[in-house]
Amino acid sequence: MHALAFFFAASCSLLATLPFTEPSKTQSSFTIDLIHHDSSLSPFYNSSMTRSQLIRNAAMRSISRANRLSFSHTLNKLKESPPEAIIIPNNGDYLMRIYIGTPSVERLAIADTGSDLTWVQCSSCDITKCFAQNTSFYDPKHSSTFAFFPCDSETCTQLPYSQYICGDSGECIYGYNYGDESYSYGGFGSDSISFDATAATPPNFPKFVFGCGYVNKITADKSRKPTGIVGLGAGPLSLVSQLGDEIGHKFSYCLLPFASNSSSKLKFGEAAIVQGNGVVSTPLIIKPDLPFYYLNLEGITVGAKTVKTGQTDGNIIIDSRSTLTYLEKNLYNEFVSLVKEIVAVEEENNYGPYPFDFCFTYKEGMSAPPDVVFHFTGGDVVLKPMHTLLLIEDNLTCSTVVPSSFGGISIFGNLAQIDFHVGYDIQGGKVSFAPTNCSLN
Ligand SMILES: *[C@@H]1O[C@H](CO)[C@@H](O)[C@H](O)[C@H]1NC(C)=O
Ligand SMILES: *[C@@H]1O[C@H](CO)[C@@H](O)[C@H](O)[C@H]1NC(C)=O
Ligand SMILES: *[C@@H]1O[C@H](CO)[C@@H](O)[C@H](O)[C@H]1NC(C)=O
Ligand SMILES: *[C@@H]1O[C@H](CO)[C@@H](O)[C@H](O)[C@H]1NC(C)=O
Ligand SMILES: *[C@@H]1O[C@H](CO)[C@@H](O)[C@H](O)[C@H]1NC(C)=O
Repeated sequence: MHALAFFFAASCSLLATLPFTEPSKTQSSFTIDLIHHDSSLSPFYNSSMTRSQLIRNAAMRSISRANRLSFSHTLNKLKESPPEAIIIPNNGDYLMRIYIGTPSVERLAIADTGSDLTWVQCSSCDITKCFAQNTSFYDPKHSSTFAFFPCDSETCTQLPYSQYICGDSGECIYGYNYGDESYSYGGFGSDSISFDATAATPPNFPKFVFGCGYVNKITADKSRKPTGIVGLGAGPLSLVSQLGDEIGHKFSYCLLPFASNSSSKLKFGEAAIVQGNGVVSTPLIIKPDLPFYYLNLEGITVGAKTVKTGQTDGNIIIDSRSTLTYLEKNLYNEFVSLVKEIVAVEEENNYGPYPFDFCFTYKEGMSAPPDVVFHFTGGDVVLKPMHTLLLIEDNLTCSTVVPSSFGGISIFGNLAQIDFHVGYDIQGGKVSFAPTNCSLN
């Protein structure tokens, strides 16, 4: 769920003034499970689907429903409809458990590195305006620590004006539209949040700011029933920003192969420092008013040949939620011609199911598929064939790198990140990669 580009009119001052978690001298370091939506650990697991069906479904979910949204039907006090969004695919592949309130309530929510606000469906929600979920809606009245922000509170007024309105009782109402027509609006409040961490005393953060959504839609897939979104992106409202100093402004993940029966890991604090053999780092680029984490891709090497981008200012979004990797069209075309030279594809199958583009039938005698090196500024990430190719049906192999249809935006997706420990050091301004067997991590 990638929040629209217009959201962050707020400056860094928001970070300084929100009533975020109380500062603590001891830094928290903890690890939680990231559950692939389709894995056997997920409540949404469908055992009758084959691995290739699952992967294909995930890739199909990448199809973005680009649309210019007007929120006027619900937030009719807004003075203008939002400007064009940056539309990137929304898959919701990974879920994480959060525990909110006192006593705490467990929520299984989409972990999203492409947006900032965390929200859950709340009890004031009328089922016609929300989506069905398998547990009762979160009821703030049952939590002794929940508080709504009034409209004239500093926290509320620091939401950009196009993202909030004042309710009839003077309450702060947020409105978020996402690039795929998903949306949430509701009360803006704070409560404690904790995680089912492996630490002896699971860290608990008392005043986490989040949305109590009562008009919500997640378009990703009708069969998927998460209960909200956890925003791990850039921007002052994200979980990562709110935990801030507590976690040293660091988080990381280690994603397992698709069909694995263990859970992937999401780490915060010291645990998120990427160490070990073969660590490479590249500058993390955060652009004003956008929730995305950008890297700069200088070129791609396939076999002995390299295509260069000639760019330096952050041209690819690194995203844990997009299944596939998307390249700006010219770069994609050059990349695919190099792959074709090496694999010596005789007959290209032009009927790869959308959104796949380059597919072929692998035949005996064909050269082994090559490793592919993504040259990020200062750090080369070597991708194995398992990262870039997928057997999607009988003998039909497709490239998981596809052309971008998102206004020239490139995205480094999650299949390409499997079995890397990927660490984000927000203050240090870098993203690090280390090849890792994530099932041992
Ligand atoms: C939803 O709850 C029902 C009954 O508790 C259970 O049988 C079903 O498996 C659950 N489905 C999911 C997707 O969690
Ligand atoms: C599980 O997958 C099978 C095969 O694709 C499909 O027919 C069935 O509807 C799916 N079940 C659910 C609950 O989605
Ligand atoms: C994962 O678990 C499922 C169901 O328990 C099983 O059918 C499958 O073989 C397991 N996969 C692996 C890779 O162990
Ligand atoms: C797929 O590959 C196998 C083994 O290489 C071969 O026997 C079979 O005919 C192929 N099927 C198709 C549809 O090409
Ligand atoms: C990773 O570790 C697991 C558990 O020891 C092992 O089964 C698996 O083969 C390893 N994967 C790779 C790619 O080495």
